[in-house]
Amino acid sequence: MIAGEVNLKSNVNTGKIYQKNPFAAEVVKLIDVTFSYNGTPVLEGVSLSVKAGDFLALIGPNGAAKSTLLKLMVGLLKPGTGEIRLFGQDVRRFREWGKIGYMSQQAAHVNTAFPATVEEVVSSGFYSGFGRLFDGKKRREAVERAVDLAGIAGLSHRLIGELSGGQRQKVFLAKALVKKPQVLFLDEPTTGIDAASQQEFYRLLMDLNRHEGITVIIVTHDIGAAFDKAGKIGCVRDKKVYIHDNTDEVTEEHIAEVLGYRIPSRQKIL
Ligand SMILES: Nc1ncnc2c1ncn2[C@@H]1O[C@H](COP(=O)(O)OP(=O)(O)OP(=O)(O)O)[C@@H](O)[C@H]1O
Ligand SMILES: [Mg+2]
Repeated sequence: MIAGEVNLKSNVNTGKIYQKNPFAAEVVKLIDVTFSYNGTPVLEGVSLSVKAGDFLALIGPNGAAKSTLLKLMVGLLKPGTGEIRLFGQDVRRFREWGKIGYMSQQAAHVNTAFPATVEEVVSSGFYSGFGRLFDGKKRREAVERAVDLAGIAGLSHRLIGELSGGQRQKVFLAKALVKKPQVLFLDEPTTGIDAASQQEFYRLLMDLNRHEGITVIIVTHDIGAAFDKAGKIGCVRDKKVYIHDNTDEVTEEHIAEVLGYRIPSRQKIL
């Protein structure tokens, strides 16, 4: 059982999960982090904490530094100043990359003419970026489990070029899941897929969060889904990140301020 699983309570009205265990292990912690590209700061004095079992949605306008924040969290970028901790360890010394699943914003922009099967793409999750390899049998079992979790078990032998956009997103989710991570970092995983497939993808993430105990940190422009599914909302704006532990507390005015435009009605987005 992972830390934080014990006292998770779901809200029967909304189906959302609220992290009730103040002693849950910290999965990600940022302390006074600043990051610049070529001398131009895009994040300044950012501190936040994500705990085991959390489902955090990061929202904010284009260019607010959401992707940058995620890349800092998974160690792909180094902070200028401040400290980033993964599972309690300084990210610069962190080596347990099997605990981390990451799907970049570019993940689904694949060359669909590339003749790779679903199985091959998912299996490549063992090689991508971090981590070590398993022997063949273990790898096959892990791929099977990942495609099963991602709801694409029947597609293993299909070519990725033959799949729909929504199915392809799930392949990349499976790739991120293949090393049985304890936390998933997803950067706009549902961009470009239809509303029904988006809903299904979010349901899948909720299942992974609730039943597999996987912590989820997702960047999304889908405000409705963020409020509907996530237990916490992080607003990225003006080089800062504001975390709201309870999405019910976030007002329409606040969202409008963060995004720079107004969403018609909170009723509608829910
Ligand atoms: N490699 C880079 N070199 C220089 N500047 C960059 C680089 N990557 C991003 N930026 C700049 O940093 C800022 C934050 O970019 P980032 O991609 O993190 O934003 P974002 O919130 O993910 O936006 P979007 O919603 O469009 O994906 C932007 O102003 C962007 O132009
Ligand atoms: Mg981005």
